[in-house]
Amino acid sequence: MSRQLTFSIFRYNPNTPEIKPYMQEYKLTESTGMTIFVALNQIREEQDPSLMFDFVCRAAICGSCAMVINGKPRLACKTLTKDLPDTITLMPLPVFKLIGDLSVDTGTWFRHMALKTEAWIHTEKEFDPGTLEERMDNETALKIYEAERCIECGCCIAGCATANIREDFLGAAGINRVARFMVDPRDERSDWQYFEVIGSDEGAFGCMGLMACDDNCPMGLPLQMQLAFVRRKMAVVGWKKR
Ligand code: SF4
Ligand code: SF4
Ligand code: FES
Repeated sequence: MSRQLTFSIFRYNPNTPEIKPYMQEYKLTESTGMTIFVALNQIREEQDPSLMFDFVCRAAICGSCAMVINGKPRLACKTLTKDLPDTITLMPLPVFKLIGDLSVDTGTWFRHMALKTEAWIHTEKEFDPGTLEERMDNETALKIYEAERCIECGCCIAGCATANIREDFLGAAGINRVARFMVDPRDERSDWQYFEVIGSDEGAFGCMGLMACDDNCPMGLPLQMQLAFVRRKMAVVGWKKR
């Protein structure tokens, strides 16, 4: 016998501020292999076409379907209803600008973070399209690949206490991005140059180290390790600077 699920969903449209935020309930019969993403589509198709939420890939690749599911930031397309109780509460990710209901604008936050961390290879070498690609040892390539697996979903930011109280905090996603360039031998930035970017409370030193980011990352990125790596490096630079 299939379960009857109750979805309690946050509703608010910033374009109609006269209607205050509220929670709306929908009932749905659980189907085999149902994800939150499937349930939301079914609700939108069968019960309420006005419900706003984001998705693109349905395969945990694009990062756009993140929301707070029963109190935890998660991807809707990766979360099975069978792993949740009969009542499921859905809220939009905090920290990011609300577009409406469960839809938030993570793009602006991530663009700002990429600009602030100068997330591109810094080199004095002239680009020559005629030369062969530079080779890299497997160990270094794997370290870069590991950090590049971030899908910019925002789950680590939404669950981070510091990011929730400091809007300029770069969060685990930002520090992971910096770690990606630190291990890249093509990037010629010195540790001091990195310190100028993240050697403050907005970066490595604003982190309280409680590791909600590591727990919430749907891609299983080793955020704890990346934070420790960057903080250690920045602490040494800071200590030498004194
Ligand atoms: S460990 Fe740091 S970055 Fe991660 S959630 Fe806690 S404060 Fe945020
Ligand atoms: S580090 Fe993980 S949780 Fe944070 S944005 Fe990237 S994929 Fe999402
Ligand atoms: S829809 Fe792309 S990650 Fe969920």
